[in-house]
Amino acid sequence: MKKIIIINGPNLNLLGIRETKIYGKSSLEDIKKISINKCNDLNLNLSFVQSNSESEIIDYIHKTEKDFDGLIINPAAYTHTSLALLDALKAISKPKIEIHISNIYSREEYRKKSLTSSGVDGIICGFGPNSYILAIEAIKRLI
Ligand code: DQA
Repeated sequence: MKKIIIINGPNLNLLGIRETKIYGKSSLEDIKKISINKCNDLNLNLSFVQSNSESEIIDYIHKTEKDFDGLIINPAAYTHTSLALLDALKAISKPKIEIHISNIYSREEYRKKSLTSSGVDGIICGFGPNSYILAIEAIKRLI
């Protein structure tokens, strides 16, 4: 069975409570459940992780090369700031997809620039929790 990892960045542990007009009422636990269900349907083994620490996220990205067949990442605010995440993503040869719950291109100017997106195969954003489902379907086709 192919193995994928979904990596969630800072503050995503507060989904469901945090800025619900933008991010909706689903918690990260809710999103984990629908992601597990989708992976079960597609015969994928899922690791679903979250960290507020840039260094831990980099370690998860590095693990992908050896331990997983593909990676889906919501880098959250590090999307707009982290060259370190970009370099880590570029170092990985496995299929990689960046996702966002909100449409970052319809928001503040400082969110319109994704530093990390040039290190991935494609981006899915703006579909709420369904961004995760669409990304799982997309990675299935890439691995
Ligand atoms: C986000 C968008 C980012 O700009 C923001 O910093 C987040 C969440 C999203 O999923 O819409 O924390 O990645």
